[in-house]
Parts: sequence; structure tokens; C-alpha cells
Amino acid sequence: MSISVTICPDAQRKPIPEWTQGLGFGKYFSDHMFMMDYEEGAGWKNPRVVPYQNLVMDPAAMCLHYGQEIFEGMKVYRGERDRVYGFRPQDNFARMSRSAQRLVMPTLDEETAFQGLCELVRADERWIPPKHGYALYIRPTMIATDAALGVRPSNKYLFFILASPVASYYPQSDDNLNAVKIYVNDKYFRAVRGGTGEAKCAGNYAASLASQWEAKQAGYAQVLWLDALERRNVEEVGTMNIFFVIDGRLVTSPLNGSILPGITRDSVIRLARHQGLTVDERPVSIAEVISGVVSGAITEVFGTGTAAVISPVSHIAFCGHEHQVANGQSGPIARRMYTDLLGIQYGRREDPFGWTSVIL
Ligand code: COI
Repeated sequence: MSISVTICPDAQRKPIPEWTQGLGFGKYFSDHMFMMDYEEGAGWKNPRVVPYQNLVMDPAAMCLHYGQEIFEGMKVYRGERDRVYGFRPQDNFARMSRSAQRLVMPTLDEETAFQGLCELVRADERWIPPKHGYALYIRPTMIATDAALGVRPSNKYLFFILASPVASYYPQSDDNLNAVKIYVNDKYFRAVRGGTGEAKCAGNYAASLASQWEAKQAGYAQVLWLDALERRNVEEVGTMNIFFVIDGRLVTSPLNGSILPGITRDSVIRLARHQGLTVDERPVSIAEVISGVVSGAITEVFGTGTAAVISPVSHIAFCGHEHQVANGQSGPIARRMYTDLLGIQYGRREDPFGWTSVIL
């Protein structure tokens, strides 16, 4: 499909923020956005890059009432030889199509979405931070736009992509590897098998806010979720998948239907195996985590995610006790994964997996 491009007049362009940690995460948005409409019977149509703008929609639009909304998170990097790289964008669009199926939304026209992403990045090239560890965060989103109050899947949808220059997700130093403290809550649960946990939909994040709020009040950056059936096994952290180094093996919870299949999770598993590490995808109980941290069998805990990249965990709070992981600093495997993953993302290291796409 051919994509129309309307460039924002110079006078309406926004000032570029400074490329410092003050940039934060998701505070600034570029000058343009990509949009595309879907109508039952006609399919995806009218792909366009337009100046960043408010959405106009009917107050009865179904996304506002029954939560038919899905999104993705990916990054675009300014790397070697001043080129612009995307990291596994096709995998994000494919995951979005799987989320769409779970919420009875139309699967994406993934090729047009990718071309739209490239056109948007071309229009907003000046918004890509020219700094290692910083990136242009890309937020593809799909919402139901039919105006109707009956509970049923919508017949009309809007797909759009926003771009936001970002530093690290957690406020921290430029090396991005300050460790974060996490909090286990056994009162609230994020998702249950058969629910929407493995889809990337807004409702999962809404369901996480009460626990996230409690964690924040108690001084913790994120919540470590337990499975909702047995309240026993760890699933994922607020915005990340979770990894443990147990007796020298890398261990992560298996994708059991209620865990988000993270692209960074998959990349770390494949990178670690490629480097000769043993990786186990198996259930890990919170009892094993606490006893392993106390005994020293667990030498590292870290989260993985597009926004969070690799975030070492320094402390885990459970049942009123706070446990420090090893020396409370980032460990060697987290540091190696961070360096090697970013090396590939910025085009500085060989990419034996074919993960990087040159966008510009
Ligand atoms: C991402 O890592 O891209 C996410 O979607 C997490 C986000 C909710 C901040």
C-alpha cells in the first residue's frame, strides 16, 4: 500500500529536548505520527504519516468502554556510521497481531506497518538521540473506534505509531545499570492463564496499577508478580520479564499463557545460549527465590524489556522482609547481556541472529 506523507511546517515543529537523563521515558513526542484505518469488509486503508495531532473520536468509541486496545514497544537506535537501526521490529508487529487475535481485533498489515514505521522515522530523524543508551521509543497502538455500547468486537479500528526519544526507563546513571528494588505482592494478581496476560493490552497494565502504587509507596520500583492460580511461582515484573542466575545457570519463567512473551526476553535467552550459558525456562517458586537469595545460590536477578533493557534487581521484598541480592549491584551476566545486546542494537557488534534492520 502506498503511504502518504504530510510533513509538519517548520514553524510548528517542537524544540528537541536535551539528550541527558532528564529526557526520562515517554515525556516528549516527535513532530509526526503514522496512522492507518481498518473497516470490516474493506480491511486496512489510508496509511499516512501526518503531523502529531490529537485524535478526534466519538465518546461512544468502543476502546473507551470495553478496553479493546493493544500496543507494542520497540526502539530505533542511532548507531554505527550514523545509521539508524530497528531491533526486531517485525517480531513486535507479529506479536501485535497475536495480541489482536486474543482481543478479537484485526491482525495487522505487518508490511505496511513496517513501511509506516520507516516513513515516520525518516520524517522524524532529528528526534533520534545520537547517544549510546538512548533511543527513539516507538509505540504502535491499535484502538477500537466503532461508536456503540453493545458488548461485541468493534467493526472499525485505528492503528497509529508514536515516537518518543527516551533515556533509561528507571531514573539512573548513563550506564543504565543501576539496580532496582522490587516488591512481591500476594494480594493482587496481574493475569491468569486463559486471561489476557500474554497479550500486550492496556487492561493488563490497568490491572497492575494498584499493586504498583503500593510498591511505590513502600519505596520499590516495580512489582514482581506471582501466578494467580497457586500464588507460588514468579511470573514477571511490572514492565519486564525476570531472570535469575541460580548455581551458574540462567533461569526464567516459562511462557505459560499469562506471561508476556518479551522480545528482549527471547533475545537474552538466545544470546546467552549462543555464548554457551545454560538457560532453563522452568517454573521458579517465590520460596526458591527467597531461599536462593538468602543462601547465595542466586547470584543475580535482572529484568528484561524494551523500555527497561536489562535492569538488575538489588533487593526483593516479600512478606514484610527485604532481601538483598548478592552485593546489591549489577552482576557480570547482566552486565554482559547489556553490553552485548546494546552492541547489536547499535550496530556495533556482529548480529549473528539477523535481528537488526537498517531503517535509514
Ligand atoms: C516496553 O518495554 O516497551 C513496554 O511496553 C513497557 C511499558 C509499559 C513501559
